[in-house]
Amino acid sequence: MIRYLILLLNVVAITGCGVKSGSSDQDTFEGRNITALHGMVVSAHPQSSRIGLLILQKGGNAIDAAVATEFALAVCGPEAGNIGGGGFMLIRTSDGTTDVIDYREKAPLLASRDMYLGTDGNVIEGLSTDTHLSAGVPGTVDGMIKVHAKYGKLNFKEVIQPAIDLARKGFPVTKGQARSLNDNKEYFINKNLKIPAFVKDSLWKEGDLLKQPDLAETLERIRDNGRDGFYSGKTAELILKEMIRGKGLISEQDLNEYKSVFRKPLTTDYKGFRIISVPLPSSGGILVAQILGMIDQYSIKEWGFHSVKSVHLIAEAERRAFADRAKYAGDPDFVNVPVAGLMNKKYLTGRFADFDENTASLSSEVGAGSPEGYESEETTHYSVVDQFGNAVAATTTLNNIFGSSIVVDGAGFLLNDQMDDFSVKPGVPNMYGLIGGEANAIAPGKRMLSSMTPSIVEKEGKLFLIAGSPGGSTIPTTVFQVIINVVDYNMNIKEAVDTGRFYHQWLPDRIYFEQNCLDSLTVKELMLMGHEMRSRPPIGSVNAIQIKLNGEIVGGADKRGDNVACGY
Ligand code: DON
Repeated sequence: MIRYLILLLNVVAITGCGVKSGSSDQDTFEGRNITALHGMVVSAHPQSSRIGLLILQKGGNAIDAAVATEFALAVCGPEAGNIGGGGFMLIRTSDGTTDVIDYREKAPLLASRDMYLGTDGNVIEGLSTDTHLSAGVPGTVDGMIKVHAKYGKLNFKEVIQPAIDLARKGFPVTKGQARSLNDNKEYFINKNLKIPAFVKDSLWKEGDLLKQPDLAETLERIRDNGRDGFYSGKTAELILKEMIRGKGLISEQDLNEYKSVFRKPLTTDYKGFRIISVPLPSSGGILVAQILGMIDQYSIKEWGFHSVKSVHLIAEAERRAFADRAKYAGDPDFVNVPVAGLMNKKYLTGRFADFDENTASLSSEVGAGSPEGYESEETTHYSVVDQFGNAVAATTTLNNIFGSSIVVDGAGFLLNDQMDDFSVKPGVPNMYGLIGGEANAIAPGKRMLSSMTPSIVEKEGKLFLIAGSPGGSTIPTTVFQVIINVVDYNMNIKEAVDTGRFYHQWLPDRIYFEQNCLDSLTVKELMLMGHEMRSRPPIGSVNAIQIKLNGEIVGGADKRGDNVACGY
């Protein structure tokens, strides 16, 4: 039945209102905005959402479904889904316990602070994004195995198998994928020894089958040998061979020693809601908490959605939060970060004391604050909830679209270019225009700072919202906007996800906004206040779930991508 359903759904266009199939209480729904009763997966590709749903319907819990979705994304979403990258997964179990698995990549042990600088001290362009040197030690496989061992209910083999089948049998590429694969064709050819599966003689068209036999074999080794199927044995040999070919730094020791870690989530309260998010080495949770903390005392609801006053307020809060990020944030295993101080409500009120309702501040004059307690455009997010009430929010990435575009020869997976998330040179912006400082300087075995923000919101102690997005430096402000859209502006989850977005990230000193997000009068008035305004292509691509008081589960899959919600 399920197989038939999947076949059927393959040929049914995804509609806004959803497609219903199945019978009685096992009715299955698929679309960008669906309602279901038992469980749901919202991810960036129809195939990965269907695989997650399949696992839920087999009786798996949200963690089983999340692990299956993550491996499926490594196959059907190679732009960002990965086994050669890393990410963060936030878990909230049905009894309200929360946990985070940090499977962020690490700098190889041979990495060094100035490894991307030439003899003149300047950054060598492309070295931290386009070469074997750009790859951090991958964390996804270790993370998935560890989180599954702790929380999974089904057998690991059962959870990874659908991804293996997808790689071997192939899947029809979406229109957007056909375009990005074609756009990247030259990179794939130039950077790889053999022509990888991502290249076709003719151009890709929507619906063409992408088969990845090498990747299927790598996933089989992981299925059969667990962690060793990736970090040792044949896969490790292939990675090391690839490093020798491209003069990369990842060594046998790096692979042996890589460990994902469980970390304590960050929480903050906002207007009666509890926001739970990920901690360092992602800056996402701190940023969301800081921005919410700074705007908390203002009635943005009364001021109106996307009004001059509220856009100005939010941009000013974001400017200050990102200035703090640049100075303080880095891998907590290497640097001391005053996390509690940065999130402290009193600190945030003081930090925002120079906010002027009528005039934009200047980033050059804002700088970072002085918190107390100084203790010693491609990523992918998915959200899952199961019939037991467990929830998962996970964001995973290779960094840039298709990472470094380098495929490990014979192993069929792409290497990340996550090293660019370090401050390659303090004061020099990375590919997202982010400026970093000492706290995020490169060091052997250190994790690069992230902006990924998988988040969960509780209302009156109950699971209420699961959300996250790709978008590099724009991720925290995107997640923040989804939260206020629901909390302050009473939008339903689909509206909250689809509506226009804007952001400020301290430097460059300007407000970026999506076309048609702000009306021309609002833009004009903000300019008069001193803001530089710049419109840009779509910001982020959210996959969210809202749990209503009556128990209904509502999916919000962003209109901006190939995102699909599947539920039953
Ligand atoms: O970890 C980070 O913050 C970035 N490497 C994420 C990259 C990203 O979201 C690209 N997507 N559009």
